[in-house]
Amino acid sequence: MNTDLSPIDRAKFVAAKRAAQYVRSGMKVGLGTGSTAAWLVQCLGEMIRDEGLQIKGVPTSSRTAQLAKDVGIEVISLDEAKSLDLTIDGADEYDAELNLIKGGGGALLQEKIVATASERMVVIADASKKVETLGAFPLPIEVIPFGWQTSKALVEEALIGMDVLGRTTSLRMNGDAPYVTDEGNHILDLHLNRIGDARQLSIVLNQIPGIVENGLFIDICDTVVIGFGDGKVQVHDMNTDEVEESRFDFVEKDNIFADVED
Ligand code: A5P
Repeated sequence: MNTDLSPIDRAKFVAAKRAAQYVRSGMKVGLGTGSTAAWLVQCLGEMIRDEGLQIKGVPTSSRTAQLAKDVGIEVISLDEAKSLDLTIDGADEYDAELNLIKGGGGALLQEKIVATASERMVVIADASKKVETLGAFPLPIEVIPFGWQTSKALVEEALIGMDVLGRTTSLRMNGDAPYVTDEGNHILDLHLNRIGDARQLSIVLNQIPGIVENGLFIDICDTVVIGFGDGKVQVHDMNTDEVEESRFDFVEKDNIFADVED
């Protein structure tokens, strides 16, 4: 096993490597955003170079678009693709029903649109992302800049009636300025600690004027591929309720991925 990678990077890498096996020539593939998804994009680039894989990729952020082009993936827009065979993306949290929190990397809006346009969504993650109940990770919501403080106040008011354990909200910053998404919006992070009813919360948040989308992915993901630092990989398929386990042995050439960063 390549010891140059940290255990967490090995876990992300093997999850991505296993998930890449779902990709077949001719597919239109949604490409996620984040450090785990970046490994996936690298793996697909390698399959294009070494195995002649032919795919079209729809990236979920400008960062992923750049990386995909760099590794030789043909990038098209979602409007060109219209629908996708498969999206593979990371997650900040997932529960036993494969409901997710996403958006830690700020790309939740495009990620949700792309995933929803896909026949299948596969999440790739290290084992630390599994939770019993969503909410320890702050829930990102995308808010338009116009009147964002009014929208934030409305969110805080709405949270009073919600089954959550914390109700603090914060505007995500990038240094001294508000973080700006690819769509020119801001992100509010909701520190809820525990989300009792994710489905209800998602509906309520999306009804608030100025809130474009929230980072709860409910009933969108079918399969999770979980990587471990020792090379073990577990695949949990919700459709069959089966868990498949395999092990990945690193070889020296996998070291080419050692410099991948989000
Ligand atoms: C990006 O906006 C996010 O949804 C990411 O997919 C998520 O934060 C997981 O990122 P990592 O793979 O870097 O943990």
